[in-house]
Amino acid sequence: LVSQMYQFQGRWHTQALLQGLLQYQKHFEAKDSDIILVTNPKSGTTWLKALVFSLINRHKFPVSSGDHPLLVTNPHLLIPFLEGVYYESPNFDFTELPSPRLMNTHISLLSLPESVKSSSCKIVYCCRNPKDMFVSLWHFGKKLASQETADYPIEKAVEAFCQGKFIGGPFWDHVLEYWYASLENPNKVLFVTYEELKKQTGDTIKRIAEFLGCGFIEEEEVGGIVKLCSFESLSSLEANREGKLPNGVETKAFFRKGEVGGWRDTLSESLAEEIDRTMEEKFQGSGLKFSC
Ligand code: A3P
Repeated sequence: LVSQMYQFQGRWHTQALLQGLLQYQKHFEAKDSDIILVTNPKSGTTWLKALVFSLINRHKFPVSSGDHPLLVTNPHLLIPFLEGVYYESPNFDFTELPSPRLMNTHISLLSLPESVKSSSCKIVYCCRNPKDMFVSLWHFGKKLASQETADYPIEKAVEAFCQGKFIGGPFWDHVLEYWYASLENPNKVLFVTYEELKKQTGDTIKRIAEFLGCGFIEEEEVGGIVKLCSFESLSSLEANREGKLPNGVETKAFFRKGEVGGWRDTLSESLAEEIDRTMEEKFQGSGLKFSC
């Protein structure tokens, strides 16, 4: 619920994620070899986690092998969500993670722990067009909803989103910070979009591989990763249909439609226009555009 969010360092957070963030800012020490996946909620986090996990582990776990970890484990259980882990399991030992450590966060660039910014660790940022992301979060919220949340009007939610009240947001600032960082420091931040991943999954995997310095990757391996991590494949696995995360969220909640432009089923024309108008105003002059 937007009324139960807190502002810290100019960004909005739920109480739980803010508590996690404070611990994470205080205790997390980045290593040069770390890989941090950054997304806004509902922007393809689960997919990106699966793709990068299978990419960096392809020698240890060949993608076509029948006992690949992604066939039996939800990606969120393989890759820690930093502010979530600091909130739920403050004694989690990050030094135990195999190298390179792969982790994810929703935190804005401005609130990242100092060591993430000063080390040579790599950031892969995945952004999704705001209308699909908003709609995806809207449906996710309904699934997890209390009665109060379930009755919240979508018009008010769109208004709050456009005005900036959004987990980790304003969304617009979150995206722009990483967008400019990727232009200024392309060795540190790679900016990809959900839409690119949908349209050119293989080529985007190759861009990520090059950015992470993963060495030569065979076309067959790229094809294997695309297939293993596809919506159809992941969403049909028992681990993702039947599982639960330690916080009780059902893993199937992370798989809904997996489409580009699906917002049309949920947003009226005027609500879509409200988001488009805000996007144009906020992204004006940045070179960043979403045409879906
Ligand atoms: P929809 O609700 O539009 O279907 P996140 O992982 O950041 O929570 O994002 C969830 C969104 O990504 C959901 O979008 C979900 O269906 C979609 N998604 C999950 N796995 C995917 C995959 N392998 N390929 C494409 N989209 C995927």
